[in-house]
Amino acid sequence: MPRLTHEEILHWLREENPAALEQLFARADEVRRAHVGDDIHMRGLIEISSYCVRQCHYCGLRMARSMPRYRMSREEILTAARSAVELGFGTVVLQSGEDFGIEAAWLAEVLRTIKNETPLAITLSLGERLPDELRLWRDAEADRYLLRFETSDPALYAAIHPRRGAAISDRIALLRELRALGYEIGSGVMVGIPGQTYEMLARDIELFESLDLDMVGIGPFLAHPDTPLGAPDVATAGADQVPTSEWMVLKAVALTRLVCPEANLPSTTALATINTLDGREHGLQSGANVFMPILTPAPYRQMYQIYPGKACIDEDATQCNSCLRERIERLGRAVGTGPGGRFTCTASQSLPILRSQPRFSPQKDRPSPLVILP
Ligand code: 5AD
Repeated sequence: MPRLTHEEILHWLREENPAALEQLFARADEVRRAHVGDDIHMRGLIEISSYCVRQCHYCGLRMARSMPRYRMSREEILTAARSAVELGFGTVVLQSGEDFGIEAAWLAEVLRTIKNETPLAITLSLGERLPDELRLWRDAEADRYLLRFETSDPALYAAIHPRRGAAISDRIALLRELRALGYEIGSGVMVGIPGQTYEMLARDIELFESLDLDMVGIGPFLAHPDTPLGAPDVATAGADQVPTSEWMVLKAVALTRLVCPEANLPSTTALATINTLDGREHGLQSGANVFMPILTPAPYRQMYQIYPGKACIDEDATQCNSCLRERIERLGRAVGTGPGGRFTCTASQSLPILRSQPRFSPQKDRPSPLVILP
């Protein structure tokens, strides 16, 4: 049985009364504390390549854009990973466009080297790669894989993700394969994609629960001017169009915490981009428990513009780290140590939670129902 009904999720997504929403956020905060504690886990994001074979209608890395591209060298990736250790991070996230120039065996060697040299957990976010490649990287001890499904609505998905030749893009099937390979799996959506309705966003959140995701990333859609969705036509947007507002994102994060109580949820850079002042904190107070500071070397950052105006892009990793730590401390929370995975212990937990232990039972662990206000 789902933790929240479709109607309850829809109700909360449409709720605009600030006092009622404060209750939702407070509830998500409570569930977060009860299930994943007060630690904020730091995942150092290394954007290893800006090449991409896809043409996603929203993304600044889409292949059709002619612009300078880069692919980091082995040494550059290892140097960035070592800096993650120095900054006290427990995880690195290697992210890129869908770049088959990142050769599977080459990357596997880099992963093994990171694993041999450091205590880091490794998350991959490299798009829809082939099952054999995903297996090779898992064998090289990559721990987690992020692949946002962006929207659970098949028609909207198809409209914004042109097919690449005859290949079928089925990210949900791929997420299941990733789980079968032993990865912790993460997915997520953008809030406010042109054409996204409240119904669709409610179903996205229901899908997070039914996939039993280990990680869920949620951020606002941010129009990139050099993409087909660069100038969304506000005049023709339907009445049921989900806005890209901060509140809308926070509602989605909070509801996700309620339906996926154990998941790791980042307070995203995209959220910080629409509210540079305290968007990050609002995420952490609405159910999130992860930050993903950027560790990509300075010369490459400007070339990895998935969307424009990315927050903190000019801050070097040390500055960024101390700013984020101050923000965490001001909230009375702590910086997590260790890998901080759903099924791996962190140093602050006294008992390791091992992957072999049974998963929580949805019935037994169901949070008590939220009161729906009139
Ligand atoms: N606005 C916000 N998020 C975006 N992403 C891609 N393009 C945009 C955009 N224009 C997100 C997608 C992708 C993740 C890496 O970045 O959700 O999965």
